Amino acid sequence: MIRFVDVHKSYRVDGKDIPALEPFSLEIADGEVFGIIGHSGAGKSTLIRLINMLERPSGGQILIGDTDMTALTGPALRAARQRIGMIFQHFNLLSSQTVAENIAFPLRIAGGKDSAAIHARVDELLRRVGLTEHAHKYPSQLSGGQKQRVGIARALANNPSILLCDEATSALDPQTTASVLDLLAEINRELKLTVVLITHEMDVVRRVCDRVAVLDAGRIVEHGTVADVFLHPRHATTRRFVSEALPEEAAGEQVPYQHVPGRILRLSFRGEATWSPTLGRVTRETRVDFNILAGRIDRIKDLPYGQLTLAMHGDGVDAALKALRDAGIEVEELAR
Ligand SMILES: Nc1ncnc2c1ncn2[C@@H]1O[C@H](COP(=O)(O)OP(=O)(O)OP(=O)(O)O)[C@@H](O)[C@H]1O
Ligand SMILES: [Mg+2]
Repeated sequence: MIRFVDVHKSYRVDGKDIPALEPFSLEIADGEVFGIIGHSGAGKSTLIRLINMLERPSGGQILIGDTDMTALTGPALRAARQRIGMIFQHFNLLSSQTVAENIAFPLRIAGGKDSAAIHARVDELLRRVGLTEHAHKYPSQLSGGQKQRVGIARALANNPSILLCDEATSALDPQTTASVLDLLAEINRELKLTVVLITHEMDVVRRVCDRVAVLDAGRIVEHGTVADVFLHPRHATTRRFVSEALPEEAAGEQVPYQHVPGRILRLSFRGEATWSPTLGRVTRETRVDFNILAGRIDRIKDLPYGQLTLAMHGDGVDAALKALRDAGIEVEELAR
């Protein structure tokens, strides 16, 4: 759906080209929620703005379907951009216009002249984002979460097939973040929109994304399904993001359990395995003892998962590990 082919981007500053994105290729599939996570200055906004040509690449191609966005200019580019909605951290609403007028704005820009049709579409969008009662308020009279809902309605006005979200929840408190993420997930599911979402929080990725790319100083250092990246982060930057989302657990090699006797293991369960009593069965059958050092059961989007850090003792540990792996549980040995 969205393909970056050998894309790179430099900004010209004081006569010098400063690289913001090193050459990369990446594919974002139709209908998925794709997350891009990275620290400030990593190049996230640059990457997402390449999709709708708010930034032009210094080299390479960006293809949406069969359309080479880099080849478009003028009316053709404007038409292609109408298929791409965008929402922003600071909402970017028109402060002198009401909620309804803000949402109608892109419809008018796209040449909508039929007032009744515009009204009907605005009403539909207001319902979709849960703001029907607030249609005639001005942005200054709304909470942050409500402002972002206006931003989402406005981005959806022209029935885009792609929604770009640049730190859309970064200015919101955790509860409001959750409700805006739920809305984005619902839009993705019901309208079959492809969503590209930038964030610096792994928890946002965990809640709504299907796949994720980790950006570090202009380089994609890791990408894959959220479950793979979240449960088994490889790159140091990814590990730091994951451990921020799991503060009670040290993700990565710095395991503070050196003083604990036994073999230190991390078990990861996904999907149905999360609910079956496999650990109990295996430890009984192999006659090993264990104590739990850390653990959690949660969800990665709709996928239940569990992660347990254990110390295991006894002659049967190797047999236990084999039996756990045979049962589909991912086992990592952190120390022995
Ligand atoms: N218009 C510009 N001109 C020159 N340099 C720029 C421009 N826009 C971005 N940069 C530089 O490119 C790099 C990547 O910036 P970008 O805005 O993509 O980062 P980001 O990951 O979105 O950061 P943040 O999380 O702070 O929004 C930074 O070093 C930034 O200073
Ligand atoms: Mg940014």
